[in-house]
Amino acid sequence: MLYNYGSINLDHVYRVPHLVRPGETLASHGYLVGLGGKGANQSLALARAGGQVAHWGHLNANDFWARALLAEAGVNVDGILETRGPSGHAIIQVDDQAENSILLFPGANHVCGRDELKNMLTQASAGDWLLLQNECSALADAIELAHDAGLKVAFNPAPMTDAVLKLPLESCDLLFVNQGEAAWLAGLPEDSSAERLLDALNSKLPGCQLVLTLGGDGAWYQCNGQRHFQPANKVQAVDTTAAGDTFIGYYLAAVQEGCGIEDCLSLAAAAASLGVQQQGAADSIPYRREVEQVLASIRSTT
Ligand code: RIB
Repeated sequence: MLYNYGSINLDHVYRVPHLVRPGETLASHGYLVGLGGKGANQSLALARAGGQVAHWGHLNANDFWARALLAEAGVNVDGILETRGPSGHAIIQVDDQAENSILLFPGANHVCGRDELKNMLTQASAGDWLLLQNECSALADAIELAHDAGLKVAFNPAPMTDAVLKLPLESCDLLFVNQGEAAWLAGLPEDSSAERLLDALNSKLPGCQLVLTLGGDGAWYQCNGQRHFQPANKVQAVDTTAAGDTFIGYYLAAVQEGCGIEDCLSLAAAAASLGVQQQGAADSIPYRREVEQVLASIRSTT
């Protein structure tokens, strides 16, 4: 089983001609509210890919429609608990070039502490996975407790902050990073090559599996001496929100199926390429049959 202690956000998405500038008042030309949060998106992607996932998190009772959506997709939601304060939410601007900017209010994603995590982890067994992103509280406790209980820890340090540098990352088994996160973690310039970033992270965290996602420039895997590159499918993006989450959910579902690294990467890349062609976060996450069709068409042309 994979347990995802992850954020659940209500995403308020505005389509804008350009991302609002400091001091500017800008009218949007589209608005929708939907399920989001890196955690919830990743759980949904895992479930739509056919994976087994139980989500742990918190929501205000008024927002339990988000829990129902996850349950409908096949996510085990017994660990999504009610809290009194406001749920987490995000204000997302998406411009006409598919670029986005995201403002987060953590809300209920920051109510969980060490004792509750300890309690949650009693459900898990050695060998299970715990998936984390950087939108929830008590991450150092989560990593340490899961590692000590023999779980494998997958971490996506997004959105990246200096606090991540103080986490016990040496207890993680798998890290999903984009270019900026990799550079920040490695202490290198953001325009460093993928190979340089991977080598630096590998020296810092030997034995940890590294997945570096570069959007339209593909994705890399490295663990010690083993390295793979997955090119991106060339598509016209309309909204890249949750593309990374889709990639991660599909990648982990493939890991659960026992796929090799190259198959995990190609499934994840195909899913992300479909996701960026749809608007929204959770709403953009494709179903497995659609992703298999993309893979089949790639295979037929190579
Ligand atoms: O990765 C996309 C997600 O980031 C959005 O759904 C938003 O809620 C923020 O968490």
